[in-house]
Amino acid sequence: MAPKFGVAILLFLPFLAFMVSAQVPTIFDITKYGAKPGADISGALSNAWKEACLSSTSSRIVIPPGTWSLSQVKLIGPNKSPIELRVQGTLKAPIGQLPNKDGEWITINYVNHFEISGGGVFDGQGTEAWKRNDCHKNKKCAKLPLNLSFNFINNTYIHDVTTKDSKNFHVNCISSHNVKFQRFTISAPGDSPNTDGIHLGRDSNITIIDSIISTGDDCVSIGDESREIHIENVTCGPGHGISIGSLGSNTAEKDVVGIYVKNCTFISTTNGVRVKTWPSAPAHLQIKDLHYENIIMNNVTYPIVIDQEYCPHNLCNLKDPSFVKISNVFIKNIKGTSYYPEAVTMVCSRTNPCENVQIADVDLTYSGKRGPTTTICANVKPTLVGKLNPPICANITGAKSS
Ligand SMILES: *[C@@H]1O[C@H](CO)[C@@H](O)[C@H](O)[C@H]1NC(C)=O
Ligand SMILES: *[C@@H]1O[C@H](CO)[C@@H](O)[C@H](O)[C@H]1NC(C)=O
Ligand SMILES: *[C@@H]1O[C@H](CO)[C@@H](O)[C@H](O)[C@H]1NC(C)=O
Ligand SMILES: *[C@@H]1O[C@H](CO)[C@@H](O)[C@H](O)[C@H]1NC(C)=O
Ligand SMILES: *[C@@H]1O[C@H](CO)[C@@H](O)[C@H](O)[C@H]1NC(C)=O
Ligand SMILES: *[C@@H]1O[C@H](CO)[C@@H](O)[C@H](O)[C@H]1NC(C)=O
Ligand SMILES: *[C@@H]1O[C@H](CO)[C@@H](O)[C@H](O)[C@H]1NC(C)=O
Repeated sequence: MAPKFGVAILLFLPFLAFMVSAQVPTIFDITKYGAKPGADISGALSNAWKEACLSSTSSRIVIPPGTWSLSQVKLIGPNKSPIELRVQGTLKAPIGQLPNKDGEWITINYVNHFEISGGGVFDGQGTEAWKRNDCHKNKKCAKLPLNLSFNFINNTYIHDVTTKDSKNFHVNCISSHNVKFQRFTISAPGDSPNTDGIHLGRDSNITIIDSIISTGDDCVSIGDESREIHIENVTCGPGHGISIGSLGSNTAEKDVVGIYVKNCTFISTTNGVRVKTWPSAPAHLQIKDLHYENIIMNNVTYPIVIDQEYCPHNLCNLKDPSFVKISNVFIKNIKGTSYYPEAVTMVCSRTNPCENVQIADVDLTYSGKRGPTTTICANVKPTLVGKLNPPICANITGAKSS
């Protein structure tokens, strides 16, 4: 009996240790590090962070309820044990410029086993800043602060927090693995230029789930070398939709593989799901395994777009095609309304036609005066399944299709 019991204890011990470290973290409350309402808490937060990184058991940094001023902060790992940053209060960015105006507002880099939680708010104070400067008239105005930058982070869970601002909203998550954003609310007005909601790149296994993203640019933009990106139950709008690219301009770019957009809703966005690659651009990468499923488009200007002649403001040369190869695209159960008649656009490269594109059960209607919804297709010959409104690629332009 005794040896068996001993074995059981031995087996149980690591689990026990895990439970203990997971359930009773050491608390690092920023008020114990000198944080005071009304004063800049960046020093207190940095000091709490440094100690948490050195802790050999898990820790929880607490920003208690209330309103806190944070000028700018860089929280860098490595961390020895898991860290949770519990933001219960509202963090307010400076109304004017950041102390280091080339940096982001909050940067968190090189951490593993990290969590952000707490129900709090990251407030970039764009609305205030907006009133006080002339960015609406002057493009060269001082940049408004609001960037949350989470780079080189692994095994991270960011949930139940809100980021709000107005101009210049941006969450970057680059070179990171196994990161989940859940109930992560982003709100910025639809007229804020170039303010992607969440920008991903060089990442793998990123999940964005149960979230509402309102912004002036892409809700989620996916850069090169992204793999296994899951976007599920996300409501996007206003904004420019969920976008891969634009890609092709840099020969160092690597493949994008495995993008899943499921059970999402787009409300009055300019695009729904979109892939953009530059024509006459040098890079030869692949974009493959794209799954767009169970999506509601509500008054979306261009619900589905694959554009391999992406050329905003005519800033490129259409002479040569894009060398980016797009394949294995699965579009299934897309319903709703299109604000323009061109509900589906698939303009693929003439040298690298889109391959293995499957489209099933699309019902997109247009309520305006310019006739029924239609599709624009080039260099693509999709496999069609189920009921399709509009008829997909009924009119193929561009000869080579596969
Ligand atoms: C936010 O991040 C993007 C991409 O890194 C950068 O171009 C932009 O300047 C940043 N904005 C601010 C206000 O830091
Ligand atoms: C994150 O994971 C990548 C890939 O496994 C690894 O190269 C990197 O060192 C890890 N970074 C941290 C901070 O754990
Ligand atoms: C993907 O990331 C999640 C955390 O968001 C993790 O639970 C899961 O094990 C990861 N999957 C792989 C294959 O690494
Ligand atoms: C989808 O996300 C919303 C939050 O945006 C949440 O309230 C809802 O429960 C989620 N739906 C499912 C099926 O999990
Ligand atoms: C996604 O939507 C489909 C169809 O509406 C539903 O059957 C499925 O359960 C949903 N999945 C999740 C994870 O909510
Ligand atoms: C539909 O979208 C257009 C263009 O984004 C917008 O101007 C219009 O207000 C939207 N209509 C509704 C009913 O939301
Ligand atoms: C195909 O083109 C013809 C002639 O341009 C046009 O009348 C028709 O509406 C188009 N059909 C679709 C489904 O776009």
